[in-house]
Amino acid sequence: MDVIEAIKGRRSVRRYKEDPVPGELIERILDAARWAPTGGNIQPWRFVVVKDKILLALLKKVSPGYLGDAPLAIVICSEKERSYRVGGPLAKDYLTIADCSMAAANITLAAHALGLGTCVVKSFSHNAVKELLNIPSGVEPELIVVVGYPANTPKPPPREPLEKVTYLNRYGENFQKWEVETMEKKVEQTGNDYIFELILFLATSAQGCLNEPPLYGPFRLLDAISRLIDLPDYGGSLAQDPFLKELKNFIDSRKFLVMYDVEGFKRAIDEVVMRLTNEAKNRYLKSQG
Ligand SMILES: Cc1cc2nc3c(=O)[nH]c(=O)nc-3n(C[C@H](O)[C@H](O)[C@H](O)COP(=O)(O)O)c2cc1C
Repeated sequence: MDVIEAIKGRRSVRRYKEDPVPGELIERILDAARWAPTGGNIQPWRFVVVKDKILLALLKKVSPGYLGDAPLAIVICSEKERSYRVGGPLAKDYLTIADCSMAAANITLAAHALGLGTCVVKSFSHNAVKELLNIPSGVEPELIVVVGYPANTPKPPPREPLEKVTYLNRYGENFQKWEVETMEKKVEQTGNDYIFELILFLATSAQGCLNEPPLYGPFRLLDAISRLIDLPDYGGSLAQDPFLKELKNFIDSRKFLVMYDVEGFKRAIDEVVMRLTNEAKNRYLKSQG
């Protein structure tokens, strides 16, 4: 099934058949969930698959928003404590919820593509769900996704028209469907504009350090070095310096390791420092003979 078709055809299902969901399909749905994007690739989620009939009935009792008797529920939990440790307050308070919502979207779409119905449920007692499923402290249930074979095909609830929910360039400015192409206008940047941009980047990076994952601080600094080397024609173009050019290439090829290979990222920083130190020796000690 085409993705757009799945997005448009998926409905929140609140009446289910009794047929169980085969294990193979459950696995495919969960696999789709874990491939959702997460801020800083923290993957804060833990999925509790509830199949036990008694537990399902209890879950429903403590969840006013849980309708219908599906044979399966996936409780998406987030590791709040770990998220805070690796990602700071932004990760704990915001990313965990956004990430689990991304996983929920994948679950609902994958299930739909496999012929199953789902309903996302947020109306549940957190304490009660934690107690029923032995969810430890530092971990929170974020969403329940009820899964089963649909007993009916719900009508799509209306959506606000695209023109009403979309603006062009600035909030409130009319979005004209057929005039989305913006005119390509090349902005001429002077060295001062470039420095100004870099200063703005550093200031917003400093601000980000208050909430973002602590590791993003070194990441932004490395990125700043790369941007600095890019500085066009200002006091003698830095990027023309073969050493700096190569250093910039190295940084740009390694900086995103921060998202998926923290140790590799740390090694890249060590390498940058060593390259610079050796270059400093060459440049400044050589001249002393
Ligand atoms: C975060 C979130 C929480 C929701 N909570 C509930 C809920 O507690 N109970 C319920 O029946 N539906 C719940 N829904 C489903 C919405 O009511 C449903 O998505 C909306 O009416 C649009 O219908 P559709 O999903 O069929 O397009 C929730 C959906 C989301 C995204």
